[in-house]
Amino acid sequence: MTSVSLIDSTAPLTADAIVIATVCTADGVALADGAAGVDAALGGVLLAALRAMDATGKADEAIKIPTLGKSAAPLVVAAGLGVAEPSTLDPESVRRAVGTALRGLESAQRVAVAIGSGTDPELVQAISDGALLGGYRFTRYKPSAKPAALRRVDIAVTEPAHAGAKAAIRRSKIITEAVNNTRDLVNTPANHLNPVTFAAYAREHGEAAGLAVEVLDERALKRGRYGAILAVGGGAATPPRLVRLSYQPARARTSVALVGKGITFDTGGLNLKVANMAEMKSDMAGAAAVIESIIAAARLKLPIAITATVPMAENAVSGSSYRPSDILELRDGRTVEIDNTDAEGRLILADAILRACEDSPDYLIETATLTGGQVVALGNGTSGVMGSEAFRDRVVALGAAAGESLWPMPIPPRLRKALDSPVADLVNVPKDRTASMLIAAAFLSDFVPEGLEWVHMDIAGPAFLHSASGYNAQGGTGVIVRTILASLADLAAS
Ligand code: BES
Ligand code: ZN
Ligand code: MN
Repeated sequence: MTSVSLIDSTAPLTADAIVIATVCTADGVALADGAAGVDAALGGVLLAALRAMDATGKADEAIKIPTLGKSAAPLVVAAGLGVAEPSTLDPESVRRAVGTALRGLESAQRVAVAIGSGTDPELVQAISDGALLGGYRFTRYKPSAKPAALRRVDIAVTEPAHAGAKAAIRRSKIITEAVNNTRDLVNTPANHLNPVTFAAYAREHGEAAGLAVEVLDERALKRGRYGAILAVGGGAATPPRLVRLSYQPARARTSVALVGKGITFDTGGLNLKVANMAEMKSDMAGAAAVIESIIAAARLKLPIAITATVPMAENAVSGSSYRPSDILELRDGRTVEIDNTDAEGRLILADAILRACEDSPDYLIETATLTGGQVVALGNGTSGVMGSEAFRDRVVALGAAAGESLWPMPIPPRLRKALDSPVADLVNVPKDRTASMLIAAAFLSDFVPEGLEWVHMDIAGPAFLHSASGYNAQGGTGVIVRTILASLADLAAS
């Protein structure tokens, strides 16, 4: 655990390490704003020391300089912002630089950050975000790792009592806790997180945040005719669930439905996966992101009504698995022919979207680790966003401003023909395997009411990283929580 607080930038900094920032100018590395006090304490040699270490000021660089008794802190860490101008402290560069520095400071108990040194709330929030996200480690199943002690991060500002800066810290704590909880859920393997334990987690944490919680078990799913959720979850030892979390503040300005894919493990089913199966413990990242987002929205007291509808199932192999050629009947009576049991996400999402839209929300925000096509097209740094075009572009812009990389993608209407089936209303996978990210979105769009403003965010790549970078550790990233929260905050403000 890490705690952050604001301190006076003119007072001497006592810490195990002081984080400053560097930039890469045409003349090489230079100090960013906020480093002057530290440099003065060291007799003005900081830049020379960094040059001697071949510092560049580029992103992902964190160079440690020992202070050899000249400062109250034994260590200075210079984190590269990757920008050219000392005065351009854009929030995401700062978040990433502070995160990189904190990730490299495993044993420092007390860290001071001297960057910017004003009270700009956006910058203060970025520093705090970087510290709280960069300090994350997943050690729940590693008792040999030292128990994560409470670590303190002091952020140097000109006015520690500044109301805007204090509010920024409060926001940062709520948002990064949602991101880090999402990371924990994604990193938890399927022998510890199955549909039943995941639903219990959602109930416990949802109720603690004051949400109304409803969990549909397999009998309730049968009564509710959720044919896809039951079929996809039918092969596993642990039965499927549908969780509904609802936040209804007085005088809500608008209503939003959240939906997230909760496959606790994706073997592919009878169309068994042949590669990268271990990563499929992360196939519930969309579900985790919407659960943690609605909890954070309640804690932020956003004045909008939100309901999260979260299908949870394990796509497993057994005698009761669903099969290629099976025909499922969904909640609204429509039928789907199964071409491939590994395209399970769109099936459980269809049932969940149908249920979510029965409440007639004003907006639908849905997210899923849905397709390998997303990873091929955009990689693990950028999520693909589809849906109704104006709302899609608004969410992309809001997500980018919150520091997540997203890109708009089309749902060409002519793709729908490929999902026609000779024996059912639709088939889950067409014969032609091109444009699979868009095809999956076209499948989902069939279950979204005409005219509803909606987005589908495919996070297959960005949800889980094989190596650490910036403020992300290896494993679950908690991606899309910040985009969802920025979108909810924007809808609440407009
Ligand atoms: N969970 C996977 C998608 C995925 C791939 C997530 C890589 C994270 C990383 C999804 O259920 C899946 O298996 N999709 C298949 C569908 C195909 C059989 C039509 C895919 O995209 O390859
Ligand atoms: Zn899947
Ligand atoms: Mn699959």
